[in-house]
Amino acid sequence: MKRLETERIYLREFIESDWEGVYRYASQEQVSKHQTWEPNSVEESKEFVKQVLADSQNMPRTRFTFAIVLKKDKRMIGSGEISIRSFNNKTGEISYILNPDYWKKGIATEVAKIVIEFGFRELNLHRIFATCAPNNIGSQKVLEKSGMFFEGRMRENLLLKEGWRDSILYSALAYEWSSK
Ligand SMILES: CC(C)(COP(=O)(O)OP(=O)(O)OC[C@H]1O[C@@H](n2cnc3c(N)ncnc32)[C@H](O)[C@@H]1OP(=O)(O)O)[C@@H](O)C(=O)NCCC(=O)NCCS
Repeated sequence: MKRLETERIYLREFIESDWEGVYRYASQEQVSKHQTWEPNSVEESKEFVKQVLADSQNMPRTRFTFAIVLKKDKRMIGSGEISIRSFNNKTGEISYILNPDYWKKGIATEVAKIVIEFGFRELNLHRIFATCAPNNIGSQKVLEKSGMFFEGRMRENLLLKEGWRDSILYSALAYEWSSK
């Protein structure tokens, strides 16, 4: 498998001790505010990592969650994920989360590109999509800058505790991607 890396970061499989890195970002309100979950307790971050490790053992594997690591100090600063949503339709979905200390440096855009590349090249997908909250401007910019196309706005597809929420939908297709 091609190494999942850029000049300053690499992606690797999760290990159990990553719960600390997860807790450093997932415990913050600014990180969870567009998500379906609340700021994490230590237990919740440990549980998240346990689930990621368990899901990585499923056969066939559908969930690929990678830890984002800074090359210069080996610090775990976020996660990037791709999940196969349909084997028949060769479709996957990506997502990413970064520790706020590293926001607005282009790192999430690099991660999105690597994970999309992985989905097309290693998982042989045809279509990769991503959704985000309409007011999550940072995430929309990441999806645009990573080369995905805006497809539209899904109406009230998510039920949160505050009520129904719309989502913005982006996608990339394998044959468009290979010509990038
Ligand atoms: C969304 C998120 C991943 C963006 O990460 P990031 O590394 O800061 O993104 P990038 O640096 O690659 O940003 C890409 C562009 O978006 C802009 N941007 C990033 N965050 C922004 C924000 N909150 N508001 C406006 N623009 C923002 C960047 O400035 C950059 O634009 P530019 O190249 O024109 O300057 C990060 O804020 C995050 O982890 N948020 C919490 C989790 C989350 O929402 N994940 C996405 C779920 S759909």
